[in-house]
Amino acid sequence: MEKMPYQPNLEPICFDIGRMPSPAPVTVESDWTAALPVLESNRMVLRELVKTDALSLLSMLATEEVAKFITPPPTTQEGFEKFILWAQRERQAGNQFTFGMVPEGCDHAVGLVQVRQIAPRFSVAEWGFAVGSPFWGTGLFMASARMTLDFAFQNTGVNRLEARAVVQNARGNGALRKLGAVQEGVLRGSLLRDGKFLDQIMWSIISQDWFQAKAVWSAVVH
Ligand SMILES: CC(C)(COP(=O)(O)OP(=O)(O)OC[C@H]1O[C@@H](n2cnc3c(N)ncnc32)[C@H](O)[C@@H]1OP(=O)(O)O)[C@@H](O)C(=O)NCCC(=O)NCCS
Repeated sequence: MEKMPYQPNLEPICFDIGRMPSPAPVTVESDWTAALPVLESNRMVLRELVKTDALSLLSMLATEEVAKFITPPPTTQEGFEKFILWAQRERQAGNQFTFGMVPEGCDHAVGLVQVRQIAPRFSVAEWGFAVGSPFWGTGLFMASARMTLDFAFQNTGVNRLEARAVVQNARGNGALRKLGAVQEGVLRGSLLRDGKFLDQIMWSIISQDWFQAKAVWSAVVH
């Protein structure tokens, strides 16, 4: 296992956020390649990553527990700065977009969610996400995921959104299941991590399924 430098002195001071309410549906229309919109929920904001998020992302994501089952994140502030600039360039090129998750009371992102195209015109895309462990189980991820899925299905033309999660990644698989993603199969030996090939579960969400599920949720809530 690659050792990640966990640096508690770098943690933001906005941990006591309680559980987040469900976000309102996202209805923005935007040319996201020109600029990502700011998506607001009751107690958090999704916005494009900026260079000054690098230190917070380092302290939140470059830890062993967060990185255990994902492609290793950068291990330095400079590495995150380069990643952020790369994400901005790739958004301008229309290849992917990355939102930073900023809870109420924080100035900087404590997690991120990325959607990248894997078939022309974004008809098929893959998403990945990570949140600092102090925010696990708070609802920050679910609120961010719902807003991201609304945005992706309404604004990028994506029909099929894939996610891969290592079989042993209980939280990652649990979170995808909760969102209504469908488990399609196991990609054997598909992630090389610390010298070992790990199996990943392939999950998908189809645009039509997402909007049907949202309609059901709305009917239950109202
Ligand atoms: C994946 C991640 C973003 C999810 O955020 P989170 O705040 O932990 O997610 P949530 O708490 O909303 O949901 C996780 C679900 O998994 C469930 N879960 C946790 N451990 C579990 C276990 N051992 N077995 C089954 N389910 C489990 C939780 O109970 C929860 O479901 P519930 O709310 O119905 O109880 C976060 O855990 C993370 O950043 N992990 C590290 C990076 C990563 O793995 N990214 C995903 C790659 S696919």
